[in-house]
Amino acid sequence: MNAQKLIDTARAIFAGDKGLLAMDESTPTCNKRFAKLEIPQTEEMRRAYRELIVTAPGLNESIGGAILFDETIRQKTNTGTPFVKVLADAGIVPGIKVDAGAKELAGHPGEKITEGLDGLRDRLAEYSKIGARFAKWRAVIAVNDDLPSRSGLEANAHALARYAALCQEAGLVPIVEPEVLMDGAHTFERCLAVTEEALRNVFIQLNCQRVVLEGIILKPNMVLPGLSCPQQPSVDEVADATVNCLLRTVPAAVPAIAFLSGGQSAELASARLNAMNVRFKSRVPWAVAFSFARAIQQPALDVWRGKEEHVSAAQEALLHRAQCNRAARRGEYKTGMEHT
Ligand code: 13P
Repeated sequence: MNAQKLIDTARAIFAGDKGLLAMDESTPTCNKRFAKLEIPQTEEMRRAYRELIVTAPGLNESIGGAILFDETIRQKTNTGTPFVKVLADAGIVPGIKVDAGAKELAGHPGEKITEGLDGLRDRLAEYSKIGARFAKWRAVIAVNDDLPSRSGLEANAHALARYAALCQEAGLVPIVEPEVLMDGAHTFERCLAVTEEALRNVFIQLNCQRVVLEGIILKPNMVLPGLSCPQQPSVDEVADATVNCLLRTVPAAVPAIAFLSGGQSAELASARLNAMNVRFKSRVPWAVAFSFARAIQQPALDVWRGKEEHVSAAQEALLHRAQCNRAARRGEYKTGMEHT
């Protein structure tokens, strides 16, 4: 394994205070988002939407890497240039979602396990040939008074670690994503406790599987109460709880933490990331960055609505969110940026 290559890839993605754009929605998830806006759910519309994203002028000023889906990594612009080439030519590192989705975990009602380890070595070799330099695997952790179970956390951490080791063997940087979900009414404190436990399990398993921590990217949730919890914390409280949780659980060898957005509004995701960097940047050992899907894309999708004549306005909305999040990495995001 070439550890230096992994380290260089991870550094390149986050250099210049850039972050990751997640555009790796599976076909069913992408179709669900299209259906809400009455956009036809066809392969051509998914291609056209992804073309809008990868060709947005100036995207590379704020975005250092893009996570693609299996369908997307094989697609081309309408003039025939592979998306992977468009991204790489712009200095945006292409990556690929490689998990096969979360399925019911046997014997654990309400809990899921992410599948996709069988045959992964061969799939990674193919993606690497196509041009991917990093990969993503998402574990989902549901929260209520009784969940998650210890065995559910361990099974997901184990799968993440097996995946990460295979990625590093193939020369791809693994994004390790244990997502504690926002669905439900659980409290802020409960999310903190579950996130801490999930991350402890993940790093135990990464060490067991001999994963080089300098060559991974951690993609965690922010510490947040359930969406229907009546008590919602302030932006600074979220920043403090999240970074303190990470300081207790994530080794300093990890180069970067890139948050998922998980259903927060685009503005709140930027404000919370900004607060983390304002309050902790000089004290944390890792880059504190973003790997948002909805919090970067949703405003652009709302503008596009499947209409060719809306492409450039949608690209502007996309760039705006990317720029806001780059500013948040620097601790320079202001809510006033939303109205200019
Ligand atoms: P969201 O930012 O929409 O939660 O998506 C994150 C993700 O895992 C996609 O790669």
